[in-house]
Amino acid sequence: MNISFADISLAKPGALAVLVTEGASPRGAAADLDGKTGGALKRAMKAAGFSGKAGSVLEVIGTRGVAAGRILLVGLGKSADLSAAGMEKAGGELIGRIEKTKETSLSIVLDGISAAKLPAGEAAARIAFGARLRAYRFDKYKTKKKTDESKAGLKSLTVMTRAAASARKDYATLSKIADGMFLTRELVNEPPNVLFPGEFAKRARALSKLGVKVEVLGEAQMKKLGMGALLGVGHGSQHESHLVVMRWTGGKAGEKPVAFVGKGVCFDTGGISLKPPAGMEDMKGDMGGAACVTGLMHALAARKAKVNAVGVIGLVENMPDGKAQRPGDIVTSMSGQTIEIINTDAEGRLVLADALWYTQNRFKPKFMVDLATLTGAIMVALGKEYAGLFSNNDKLSKQLSEAGEAESEKVWRMPMGAAYDKQIDSQFADMKNTGGRDGGSITAAQFLERFVNKTTWAHLDIAGTAMASPKTAINQSWGSGWGVRLLNRLVADHYEA
Ligand code: BES
Ligand code: MN
Ligand code: ZN
Repeated sequence: MNISFADISLAKPGALAVLVTEGASPRGAAADLDGKTGGALKRAMKAAGFSGKAGSVLEVIGTRGVAAGRILLVGLGKSADLSAAGMEKAGGELIGRIEKTKETSLSIVLDGISAAKLPAGEAAARIAFGARLRAYRFDKYKTKKKTDESKAGLKSLTVMTRAAASARKDYATLSKIADGMFLTRELVNEPPNVLFPGEFAKRARALSKLGVKVEVLGEAQMKKLGMGALLGVGHGSQHESHLVVMRWTGGKAGEKPVAFVGKGVCFDTGGISLKPPAGMEDMKGDMGGAACVTGLMHALAARKAKVNAVGVIGLVENMPDGKAQRPGDIVTSMSGQTIEIINTDAEGRLVLADALWYTQNRFKPKFMVDLATLTGAIMVALGKEYAGLFSNNDKLSKQLSEAGEAESEKVWRMPMGAAYDKQIDSQFADMKNTGGRDGGSITAAQFLERFVNKTTWAHLDIAGTAMASPKTAINQSWGSGWGVRLLNRLVADHYEA
């Protein structure tokens, strides 16, 4: 879908959408359009009882006086409540509507709407952003029937506004964030026979064309570094494990970087502690944390963020096999701490243990944020609406909570402490990899904290938000791309020069 911004012209054929606020009668271009149609729009609004409530759409088809065969009146809600998120939602909902038709081009008229906190250019850009996020499809493996939506195929979207120049400027940035989110969605959606650790590493390597420095470590190098925790998880797999380091240096030379670390379990069978069959296919998304880090690095580099940022992802496959690790095994992590394996299905924390230690040890970052589809228990606690936030730092937690509210990618801080930490003490090693049923997401976070070495750190448990989360106006994809917007905003608001 080609997206562009233009000045207002009511002569365009195809479908025409007009945005109206609640209770107000059509103004500006919307009033002009009503005039051209001989008052058909106002009559239709009255007849249908359409008042411009947020999320409401009224279709008016085949009116005289205009080239457009279909006019959609889109309600934005009360003008005092207009927000960036509301505009994105309107753009998304409009695409959902139009994709059910045979229309191939859509022009959206944004005029006569004033919002105190939302400049006209940004409003237009946000509509386009929402439309683009909604239009994402993953149907590359459907050879016969493409989804109804992509069959219809909207080819062009024009947002018409008197502020086209500033809309273009705002959208240029948003569009790069969307590219990052799409990379994340794509990686999560890919099947596990295609996206094994080596293939994921190859796709991360492609970020070098944006100026990201990418290093890919294999098993021999990780063995030299002493990464026994990460390597143990991959023992049963036919695929080599990898650690990928991505560095974007858009900030001042020598300035400490911010760091993002991702769990990249390309498929999680549970290993010898095998998972039950129902729903196991979803475990292709167990690399959602790594996918988010990769999409974020894409977004930061594409928009040339003035920040030094590193992304580190641990890529493994957790399989049952004659060579697989067993419950009872004791592995030695890069930190030197030993871990007794109680359950081979608690593998994500083992991967992160070495990835976190490596990251703080090599980069001495300002902070580390890790993302992981770590525990089923986080969905028991928070559902799919919030990701779990665990941290050793109040300031970073506050920044993440605020960024989450602003980007509609919300996080909820969970408690941590010594009493929980005790649950993972082991009778044979320095710690064990599970802490029992109670507080399962918290004891997982306590485990991770033992590998951050006092670095300012936050852990986001995204098991509920990275995949199979509820469909929204701006996301219809199984892999949601969650986290890219959140962390991009964290960087933009607090860590860019
Ligand atoms: N990848 C899973 C967590 C998960 C479950 C993510 C469902 C998304 C949806 C993780 O590796 C896992 O298996 N965790 C176990 C931990 C337990 C063995 C302590 C869990 O949550 O049951
Ligand atoms: Mn597991
Ligand atoms: Zn897992």
